[in-house]
Amino acid sequence: MIYILNGPNLNLLGKRQPHIYGHETLQGVESQCRELAAELDLAVRFHQSNAEHEIIGWIHEAREVAAGIIINPAAFTHTSVAILDALNAFEGEVIEVHISNVHKREAFRHHSYVSLRADGVIAGFGTQGYLLALQRIARLVIPEQN
Ligand code: DQA
Repeated sequence: MIYILNGPNLNLLGKRQPHIYGHETLQGVESQCRELAAELDLAVRFHQSNAEHEIIGWIHEAREVAAGIIINPAAFTHTSVAILDALNAFEGEVIEVHISNVHKREAFRHHSYVSLRADGVIAGFGTQGYLLALQRIARLVIPEQN
């Protein structure tokens, strides 16, 4: 089982600053992830929340059932020690995804608490980043794909 978690404002994907985040909706991202996960033989749970405590709750849940977490913490990337602590309590693989290239943007986006835990980081590949993260996590969690 792989958890794919999305932070605040990503529910507006496709409508929000499309010059930065593109025109694809989060529902579109979810269906592409589900399609690829099926090909890779991975079960996925896909969630989005604007509330930090809900994301932390899903990370706690993942401790019991998941081999990996793909997370786009959105703005919480740059602020949340609580999400970092939750991820530090998770023993599987963690991949951090950003749709935009955060390093090309404002200085406050250059620091990520989550990167202190992430096994890999993907930024600036648009929504394709989620699919790349799934391919990587499949290699990490399914030994014969290594
Ligand atoms: C983001 C980048 C963050 O800095 C921003 O707050 C987001 C989205 C991205 O996917 O590019 O909401 O995580």
